[in-house]
Amino acid sequence: MDRFDRYREDVPGRANVADTPELVAYYRDLERLNAAALWTVANRIEPWEPASASVPVLWRYKDLREHVLRSVSLVTPEQAGRRVIYLDNPGRRDVSAAVGWLYSGLQVMDPGECASTHRHSAAALRFIMEGRGAYTIVDGHKMTLGPNDFVLTPNGTWHEHGVDADGTPCIWQDGLDIPLVNALEANFYEVHPDLHQAVIHPVDDSKTPLLKYEWGPTYEALQRLAKTTDGSPFDGVLMDYVNPATGGPVMPTIGASMQMLRPGEHTKAHRQTGSFLYQVAKGSGFSVIGGKRFDWNERDIFCVPSWTFHEHANASATDDACLFCFNDLPVMKALSLYREAPYRENGGHQRCTPAGSEASASG
Ligand SMILES: [Fe+2]
Ligand SMILES: [Fe+2]
Repeated sequence: MDRFDRYREDVPGRANVADTPELVAYYRDLERLNAAALWTVANRIEPWEPASASVPVLWRYKDLREHVLRSVSLVTPEQAGRRVIYLDNPGRRDVSAAVGWLYSGLQVMDPGECASTHRHSAAALRFIMEGRGAYTIVDGHKMTLGPNDFVLTPNGTWHEHGVDADGTPCIWQDGLDIPLVNALEANFYEVHPDLHQAVIHPVDDSKTPLLKYEWGPTYEALQRLAKTTDGSPFDGVLMDYVNPATGGPVMPTIGASMQMLRPGEHTKAHRQTGSFLYQVAKGSGFSVIGGKRFDWNERDIFCVPSWTFHEHANASATDDACLFCFNDLPVMKALSLYREAPYRENGGHQRCTPAGSEASASG
Protein backbone atom coordinates (compact mmCIF):
# COMPACT_ATOMS: atom_id res chain seq x y z
CA MET A 1 0.00 0.00 0.00
CA ASP A 2 1.14 3.51 -0.81
CA ARG A 3 2.56 5.57 1.96
CA PHE A 4 1.58 9.20 2.31
CA ASP A 5 4.21 10.11 4.89
CA ARG A 6 7.43 9.32 3.01
CA TYR A 7 8.46 13.00 2.77
CA ARG A 8 8.19 13.68 6.52
CA GLU A 9 10.90 15.87 8.02
CA ASP A 10 11.44 16.16 11.75
CA VAL A 11 12.21 19.90 11.50
CA PRO A 12 10.14 22.72 12.98
CA GLY A 13 8.11 24.42 10.24
CA ARG A 14 8.19 21.39 7.93
CA ALA A 15 5.47 18.82 7.29
CA ASN A 16 5.76 15.92 9.73
CA VAL A 17 2.54 13.92 9.77
CA ALA A 18 2.69 10.15 10.26
CA ASP A 19 0.15 7.97 8.46
CA THR A 20 -2.64 6.51 10.59
CA PRO A 21 -5.53 4.36 9.34
CA GLU A 22 -7.86 7.30 9.86
CA LEU A 23 -5.62 9.72 7.90
CA VAL A 24 -5.08 7.25 5.06
CA ALA A 25 -8.84 6.84 4.74
CA TYR A 26 -9.11 10.62 4.65
CA TYR A 27 -6.43 10.88 1.92
CA ARG A 28 -8.30 8.26 -0.14
CA ASP A 29 -11.50 10.27 0.11
CA LEU A 30 -9.65 13.38 -1.09
CA GLU A 31 -8.15 11.42 -4.03
CA ARG A 32 -11.62 10.60 -5.27
CA LEU A 33 -12.32 14.36 -5.42
CA ASN A 34 -9.05 15.10 -7.27
CA ALA A 35 -7.68 16.77 -4.18
CA ALA A 36 -4.92 16.03 -1.67
CA ALA A 37 -3.46 17.22 1.63
CA LEU A 38 -0.53 19.56 1.04
CA TRP A 39 1.42 18.20 4.03
CA THR A 40 1.81 14.85 2.25
CA VAL A 41 3.84 16.45 -0.56
CA ALA A 42 4.99 19.85 0.78
CA ASN A 43 8.53 18.78 1.61
CA ARG A 44 8.92 17.29 -1.86
CA ILE A 45 7.51 20.17 -3.91
CA GLU A 46 9.25 22.77 -1.77
CA PRO A 47 12.81 21.53 -1.34
CA TRP A 48 15.14 23.54 0.91
CA GLU A 49 17.15 24.41 -2.18
CA PRO A 50 16.97 23.54 -5.90
CA ALA A 51 17.47 19.82 -6.43
CA SER A 52 18.15 19.38 -10.15
CA ALA A 53 16.95 16.19 -11.79
CA SER A 54 19.67 16.70 -14.41
CA VAL A 55 22.93 14.80 -14.16
CA PRO A 56 26.30 16.39 -15.00
CA VAL A 57 27.29 14.85 -18.35
CA LEU A 58 30.25 15.22 -20.69
CA TRP A 59 29.54 14.37 -24.34
CA ARG A 60 32.87 13.58 -25.97
CA TYR A 61 32.96 14.72 -29.58
CA LYS A 62 35.33 11.96 -30.60
CA ASP A 63 32.78 9.38 -29.38
CA LEU A 64 29.72 11.09 -30.84
CA ARG A 65 31.04 12.42 -34.17
CA GLU A 66 31.10 9.13 -36.11
CA HIS A 67 27.52 8.38 -35.02
CA VAL A 68 26.39 11.84 -36.07
CA LEU A 69 27.97 11.30 -39.50
CA ARG A 70 26.36 7.84 -39.72
CA SER A 71 22.93 9.45 -39.70
CA VAL A 72 23.67 10.98 -43.13
CA SER A 73 23.40 7.55 -44.78
CA LEU A 74 20.44 6.49 -42.64
CA VAL A 75 17.92 9.31 -43.12
CA THR A 76 17.53 12.30 -45.43
CA PRO A 77 16.76 15.79 -44.12
CA GLU A 78 13.44 15.51 -46.00
CA GLN A 79 12.51 12.37 -44.04
CA ALA A 80 13.80 13.60 -40.71
CA GLY A 81 12.65 17.22 -40.99
CA ARG A 82 15.87 18.03 -39.20
CA ARG A 83 18.65 15.43 -39.06
CA VAL A 84 19.79 15.85 -35.48
CA ILE A 85 21.27 13.62 -32.81
CA TYR A 86 20.19 15.21 -29.55
CA LEU A 87 21.87 15.21 -26.17
CA ASP A 88 19.70 13.18 -23.83
CA ASN A 89 20.41 13.86 -20.16
CA PRO A 90 19.73 10.65 -18.17
CA GLY A 91 17.80 12.67 -15.59
CA ARG A 92 15.69 14.51 -18.17
CA ARG A 93 14.71 11.88 -20.74
CA ASP A 94 11.01 12.58 -20.08
CA VAL A 95 11.39 16.06 -21.59
CA SER A 96 14.25 15.43 -24.07
CA ALA A 97 16.45 17.99 -22.34
CA ALA A 98 20.23 18.17 -22.33
CA VAL A 99 20.05 19.92 -18.96
CA GLY A 100 17.22 21.56 -17.02
CA TRP A 101 14.78 23.03 -19.52
CA LEU A 102 17.33 23.35 -22.35
CA TYR A 103 17.44 21.14 -25.41
CA SER A 104 20.55 20.60 -27.52
CA GLY A 105 21.54 18.45 -30.48
CA LEU A 106 24.17 17.97 -33.16
CA GLN A 107 22.88 18.56 -36.67
CA VAL A 108 24.74 17.28 -39.72
CA MET A 109 24.38 18.16 -43.39
CA ASP A 110 26.16 17.10 -46.54
CA PRO A 111 27.07 19.55 -49.31
CA GLY A 112 23.99 20.47 -51.35
CA GLU A 113 21.55 19.45 -48.62
CA CYS A 114 18.99 21.83 -47.19
CA ALA A 115 16.32 21.39 -44.51
CA SER A 116 12.87 22.83 -45.10
CA THR A 117 11.89 26.24 -43.76
CA HIS A 118 9.91 26.25 -40.55
CA ARG A 119 9.23 28.32 -37.46
CA HIS A 120 8.37 27.55 -33.87
CA SER A 121 7.69 29.16 -30.53
CA ALA A 122 10.96 27.84 -29.17
CA ALA A 123 13.98 30.12 -29.53
CA ALA A 124 17.04 28.59 -31.16
CA LEU A 125 20.72 29.15 -31.62
CA ARG A 126 23.45 27.24 -33.39
CA PHE A 127 27.17 27.03 -32.83
CA ILE A 128 29.19 25.73 -35.78
CA MET A 129 31.50 22.81 -34.97
CA GLU A 130 33.08 21.81 -38.27
CA GLY A 131 32.77 22.06 -42.03
CA ARG A 132 32.78 24.63 -44.80
CA GLY A 133 29.80 26.09 -46.66
CA ALA A 134 27.12 26.01 -43.93
CA TYR A 135 24.47 28.69 -44.05
CA THR A 136 21.30 29.65 -42.25
CA ILE A 137 18.47 31.77 -43.64
CA VAL A 138 16.43 33.66 -41.03
CA ASP A 139 13.48 35.75 -42.23
CA GLY A 140 15.11 36.26 -45.63
CA HIS A 141 18.59 37.01 -44.21
CA LYS A 142 21.18 34.47 -45.41
CA MET A 143 24.23 34.04 -43.24
CA THR A 144 27.33 32.06 -44.14
CA LEU A 145 28.82 30.18 -41.21
CA GLY A 146 32.21 28.82 -40.20
CA PRO A 147 33.55 27.01 -37.12
CA ASN A 148 32.85 28.76 -33.79
CA ASP A 149 30.37 31.17 -35.43
CA PHE A 150 27.22 31.60 -33.43
CA VAL A 151 23.85 32.34 -35.04
CA LEU A 152 20.38 33.10 -33.65
CA THR A 153 16.95 32.06 -34.82
CA PRO A 154 14.69 33.96 -32.41
CA ASN A 155 11.29 32.44 -31.76
CA GLY A 156 8.73 32.95 -34.50
CA THR A 157 11.29 33.56 -37.27
CA TRP A 158 11.20 31.51 -40.48
CA HIS A 159 14.47 29.62 -40.77
CA GLU A 160 16.24 26.95 -42.77
CA HIS A 161 19.74 25.53 -42.80
CA GLY A 162 21.88 24.06 -45.51
CA VAL A 163 25.34 23.50 -46.89
CA ASP A 164 26.50 24.91 -50.25
CA ALA A 165 27.05 22.35 -53.00
CA ASP A 166 30.80 23.09 -53.04
CA GLY A 167 31.13 22.89 -49.24
CA THR A 168 32.07 19.97 -46.96
CA PRO A 169 29.92 17.98 -44.50
CA CYS A 170 29.01 20.37 -41.68
CA ILE A 171 28.13 19.70 -38.06
CA TRP A 172 26.75 22.27 -35.67
CA GLN A 173 25.27 22.33 -32.20
CA ASP A 174 21.66 23.43 -31.92
CA GLY A 175 20.44 24.94 -28.66
CA LEU A 176 16.77 25.58 -27.93
CA ASP A 177 14.38 26.23 -25.08
CA ILE A 178 11.96 23.54 -26.32
CA PRO A 179 11.53 21.85 -22.89
CA LEU A 180 10.81 25.21 -21.25
CA VAL A 181 8.28 26.26 -23.89
CA ASN A 182 6.64 22.83 -23.59
CA ALA A 183 6.57 23.14 -19.79
CA LEU A 184 4.77 26.44 -20.30
CA GLU A 185 2.46 24.68 -22.79
CA ALA A 186 3.02 27.40 -25.37
CA ASN A 187 4.73 25.59 -28.27
CA PHE A 188 3.58 26.03 -31.88
CA TYR A 189 5.32 24.64 -34.98
CA GLU A 190 4.76 25.55 -38.62
CA VAL A 191 6.27 24.39 -41.90
CA HIS A 192 6.65 27.13 -44.52
CA PRO A 193 3.92 26.83 -47.19
CA ASP A 194 6.57 26.89 -49.97
CA LEU A 195 8.92 24.55 -48.00
CA HIS A 196 11.74 27.03 -48.68
CA GLN A 197 12.02 30.79 -48.28
CA ALA A 198 13.46 33.42 -50.60
CA VAL A 199 16.62 35.28 -49.63
CA ILE A 200 15.40 38.90 -49.78
CA HIS A 201 18.40 40.70 -48.26
CA PRO A 202 22.10 40.81 -49.26
CA VAL A 203 23.99 37.79 -47.87
CA ASP A 204 25.56 38.41 -44.43
CA ASP A 205 23.83 41.79 -44.08
CA SER A 206 22.21 41.05 -40.73
CA LYS A 207 23.54 43.87 -38.55
CA THR A 208 20.00 44.77 -37.49
CA PRO A 209 18.78 42.54 -36.16
CA LEU A 210 22.15 41.07 -35.32
CA LEU A 211 21.75 37.36 -35.92
CA LYS A 212 25.34 36.19 -36.44
CA TYR A 213 28.27 36.56 -34.07
CA GLU A 214 31.50 35.58 -35.79
CA TRP A 215 34.34 33.82 -34.06
CA GLY A 216 37.13 36.13 -35.34
CA PRO A 217 35.95 39.36 -33.70
CA THR A 218 34.70 37.45 -30.63
CA TYR A 219 38.12 35.93 -29.95
CA GLU A 220 39.85 39.24 -30.65
CA ALA A 221 37.59 41.01 -28.16
CA LEU A 222 38.28 38.33 -25.54
CA GLN A 223 42.03 38.72 -26.00
CA ARG A 224 41.74 42.50 -25.65
CA LEU A 225 39.59 42.17 -22.54
CA ALA A 226 42.07 39.70 -21.02
CA LYS A 227 44.74 42.41 -21.17
CA THR A 228 42.66 44.83 -19.15
CA THR A 229 41.08 42.62 -16.49
CA ASP A 230 41.87 39.78 -14.12
CA GLY A 231 38.43 38.44 -14.98
CA SER A 232 36.10 36.71 -12.58
CA PRO A 233 37.51 34.26 -10.02
CA PHE A 234 34.70 31.88 -11.07
CA ASP A 235 34.56 32.38 -14.83
CA GLY A 236 37.88 33.77 -16.00
CA VAL A 237 37.52 36.32 -18.80
CA LEU A 238 33.88 36.08 -19.80
CA MET A 239 31.90 38.08 -22.34
CA ASP A 240 28.17 37.76 -22.84
CA TYR A 241 26.88 37.89 -26.37
CA VAL A 242 24.35 40.73 -26.34
CA ASN A 243 21.49 42.05 -28.41
CA PRO A 244 22.89 45.43 -29.56
CA ALA A 245 19.41 46.96 -29.60
CA THR A 246 18.85 46.32 -25.89
CA GLY A 247 22.26 45.55 -24.40
CA GLY A 248 20.51 42.52 -22.91
CA PRO A 249 20.72 38.81 -23.62
CA VAL A 250 20.61 37.53 -27.20
CA MET A 251 17.09 36.17 -26.75
CA PRO A 252 14.43 36.56 -24.03
CA THR A 253 14.86 33.01 -22.74
CA ILE A 254 18.45 32.12 -23.66
CA GLY A 255 21.71 33.84 -22.81
CA ALA A 256 25.08 32.99 -24.32
CA SER A 257 28.68 33.73 -23.50
CA MET A 258 32.23 33.00 -24.53
CA GLN A 259 34.82 32.73 -21.80
CA MET A 260 38.56 32.44 -21.88
CA LEU A 261 40.63 30.52 -19.38
CA ARG A 262 44.17 31.84 -19.56
CA PRO A 263 47.12 29.43 -19.64
CA GLY A 264 47.17 27.48 -16.38
CA GLU A 265 44.04 29.21 -15.05
CA HIS A 266 41.88 27.23 -12.60
CA THR A 267 38.76 29.09 -11.48
CA LYS A 268 37.17 28.86 -8.06
CA ALA A 269 33.92 26.96 -7.67
CA HIS A 270 30.53 28.57 -7.36
CA ARG A 271 26.96 27.59 -8.06
CA GLN A 272 24.09 29.39 -9.72
CA THR A 273 20.40 28.90 -10.29
CA GLY A 274 20.09 28.18 -14.00
CA SER A 275 21.15 25.47 -16.41
CA PHE A 276 24.29 25.67 -18.52
CA LEU A 277 25.56 23.90 -21.62
CA TYR A 278 29.20 24.41 -22.54
CA GLN A 279 31.00 23.64 -25.76
CA VAL A 280 34.79 23.71 -25.83
CA ALA A 281 35.55 26.15 -28.64
CA LYS A 282 39.31 26.02 -28.16
CA GLY A 283 41.87 24.18 -26.06
CA SER A 284 41.64 21.46 -23.43
CA GLY A 285 41.24 21.21 -19.70
CA PHE A 286 38.78 19.96 -17.12
CA SER A 287 35.80 21.05 -15.10
CA VAL A 288 34.74 19.82 -11.69
CA ILE A 289 30.94 19.66 -11.60
CA GLY A 290 29.14 18.55 -8.48
CA GLY A 291 32.39 17.10 -7.12
CA LYS A 292 33.17 15.10 -10.23
CA ARG A 293 36.01 15.80 -12.63
CA PHE A 294 35.32 15.89 -16.39
CA ASP A 295 38.30 16.21 -18.73
CA TRP A 296 37.47 17.98 -21.98
CA ASN A 297 38.95 18.64 -25.39
CA GLU A 298 37.96 20.86 -28.29
CA ARG A 299 34.31 20.31 -29.39
CA ASP A 300 33.33 18.35 -26.29
CA ILE A 301 30.06 19.48 -24.72
CA PHE A 302 29.19 19.33 -21.04
CA CYS A 303 26.40 20.54 -18.82
CA VAL A 304 26.14 22.15 -15.41
CA PRO A 305 22.75 21.56 -13.76
CA SER A 306 21.11 24.25 -11.66
CA TRP A 307 22.60 24.97 -8.24
CA THR A 308 25.53 22.62 -8.85
CA PHE A 309 29.05 23.69 -7.88
CA HIS A 310 31.38 24.00 -10.84
CA GLU A 311 34.91 25.18 -11.57
CA HIS A 312 36.93 25.15 -14.79
CA ALA A 313 40.63 24.60 -15.45
CA ASN A 314 42.80 25.13 -18.51
CA ALA A 315 45.22 22.19 -18.83
CA SER A 316 47.69 24.11 -20.97
CA ALA A 317 50.48 26.25 -19.53
CA THR A 318 50.98 28.04 -22.84
CA ASP A 319 47.63 28.34 -24.70
CA ASP A 320 44.30 29.79 -23.71
CA ALA A 321 41.12 27.71 -23.67
CA CYS A 322 37.71 29.05 -24.69
CA LEU A 323 34.28 27.81 -23.60
CA PHE A 324 31.10 28.71 -25.42
CA CYS A 325 28.08 28.55 -23.13
CA PHE A 326 24.35 28.98 -23.45
CA ASN A 327 22.00 29.06 -20.51
CA ASP A 328 18.60 30.08 -19.17
CA LEU A 329 19.88 32.95 -17.02
CA PRO A 330 17.58 35.50 -18.75
CA VAL A 331 14.63 33.46 -17.47
CA MET A 332 16.07 33.20 -13.96
CA LYS A 333 16.75 36.93 -13.85
CA ALA A 334 13.43 38.01 -15.39
CA LEU A 335 11.58 35.93 -12.81
CA SER A 336 13.76 37.17 -9.92
CA LEU A 337 14.99 33.62 -9.29
CA TYR A 338 18.69 34.17 -9.92
CA ARG A 339 21.10 33.34 -7.10
CA GLU A 340 24.73 32.44 -6.91
CA ALA A 341 27.01 31.35 -4.12
CA PRO A 342 30.73 30.59 -3.88
CA TYR A 343 32.16 27.31 -2.61
CA ARG A 344 33.64 28.33 0.70
CA GLU A 345 35.67 25.34 1.80
CA ASN A 346 39.08 24.06 0.72
CA GLY A 347 40.28 27.37 -0.76
CA GLY A 348 37.25 27.50 -3.09
CA HIS A 349 37.97 24.19 -4.83
CA GLN A 350 35.77 21.13 -4.60
CA ARG A 351 37.26 17.91 -3.34
CA CYS A 352 36.64 15.70 -6.32
CA THR A 353 36.79 12.13 -7.44
CA PRO A 354 40.05 11.60 -9.33
CA ALA A 355 40.46 12.02 -13.08
CA GLY A 356 39.41 8.97 -15.06
CA SER A 357 36.57 7.95 -12.77
CA GLU A 358 34.22 10.28 -14.66
CA ALA A 359 33.76 7.65 -17.35
CA SER A 360 30.64 6.20 -15.77
CA ALA A 361 28.88 9.56 -15.87
CA SER A 362 29.84 10.45 -19.42
CA GLY A 363 27.42 10.00 -22.25
FE1 LIG B 1 14.04 25.22 -36.05
FE1 LIG C 1 29.36 29.58 -13.33
